[in-house]
Amino acid sequence: MITGGAGFIGSHLVRLMVNKYPEYKIVCVDALTYAGNLENLRDVESAPNYVFEHADVCDFGAMERIMRSHAVDGIIHLAAESHVDRSISDPLAFVRTNVEGVMSLLQAARRVWNGAFDGKRFLNVSTDEVFGALPADRPDLKFSESTPYAPHSPYSASKASADHFVRSFFDTYGLPTVISNCSNNYGPYQFPEKLIPLVINNIRHGKPLPVYGEGLNVRDWLYVGDHVRALDLIFHQADPGSTYCIGGDCERRNIDIVRSLIAVTDRLLGNSEGHSLPLITYVADRAGHDMRYAIDSSKLQHDLGWKPVVGFEDGLERTVRWYLDNQQWLDRITSGDYREYYRRHYGSDC
Ligand code: NAD
Ligand code: TYD
Repeated sequence: MITGGAGFIGSHLVRLMVNKYPEYKIVCVDALTYAGNLENLRDVESAPNYVFEHADVCDFGAMERIMRSHAVDGIIHLAAESHVDRSISDPLAFVRTNVEGVMSLLQAARRVWNGAFDGKRFLNVSTDEVFGALPADRPDLKFSESTPYAPHSPYSASKASADHFVRSFFDTYGLPTVISNCSNNYGPYQFPEKLIPLVINNIRHGKPLPVYGEGLNVRDWLYVGDHVRALDLIFHQADPGSTYCIGGDCERRNIDIVRSLIAVTDRLLGNSEGHSLPLITYVADRAGHDMRYAIDSSKLQHDLGWKPVVGFEDGLERTVRWYLDNQQWLDRITSGDYREYYRRHYGSDC
């Protein structure tokens, strides 16, 4: 059972699992919020080993029913409110989905599995943002499995809270849980509220490219395909009670990401070099904006033999190409509620 399977990372994971494990039944559970989109799963929806369940993870009764009716023996939990800026304007929604949602699933798993935990797994897909922020001038410092939690945003606090509950269910009830903490993902099907697809979409429309503060904040970028390969390994091989950090070893300042996106997108659109540079617009900084994230993924590399295979330049080019080849997908998503969100948040039209 994969929750949040109609979202960005979830849809890549569902696709990988459906194709790689024809003998499994993959149950995708999603409430189809603004971020969930069944179009992301078009190519697997008629696979014989795929089932979709339209349900809210906070609905304990529904979670229990779905688990029983499909004899679920493994859960990978990705359903979440995932955007930091939305968590600043509406923090309660994050407590509901990210904290109450994980509690409902943990409790359903405990009830349905009823102590028969052999061969069962509950993987909670978390974020590196639970660790707080690193200084920009200490490249020697990175987050690892032993870094204490110190979240700053309502989003990261809700994810940290979820991780604590997950750990508590392992310590208290022996539920076979595992936690993964991943850095910033990018790639096809990412909702265009996030930096990379937002910038590609705005370049396409010749609209301002909003850069928070001075654009000096650093993120560690990982191609989504590399993240879901790591989740597959962790789900199947990690010891119960363990945690794994996943990262791209690819730190970039936001302003450099925006410049790279301009270079690639202008080239693919046939624009002259630097055509979209004047669109860069510095805007008010995000409140509580974490300065830098960086992950040390050596435990995952050492224990499970994982390493990222898509380099950043290659991944960025693939991503821009995908958005330009799938403009209908973008146009549909950016037509309704997104416009309202954009106007509220940026004070202009997207
Ligand atoms: P996303 O916002 O693209 O997708 C979230 C999905 O969850 C959507 O399909 C949505 O419909 C569904 N959902 C939301 N509330 C739900 C509810 N109450 N019940 C059932 N489904 C619900 O998110 P994403 O970027 O794919 O992230 C997936 C997970 O990975 C999240 O838990 C996020 O915290 C984590 N994560 C994301 C990143 C990243 O860079 N995007 C990095 C590390 C970890
Ligand atoms: P985002 O994609 O929202 O991911 P996260 O906040 O989870 O890291 O943002 C990535 C970085 O880009 C972050 O430092 C905030 C910055 N950013 C902008 O500068 N402008 C924007 O319009 C957005 C959405 C993000």
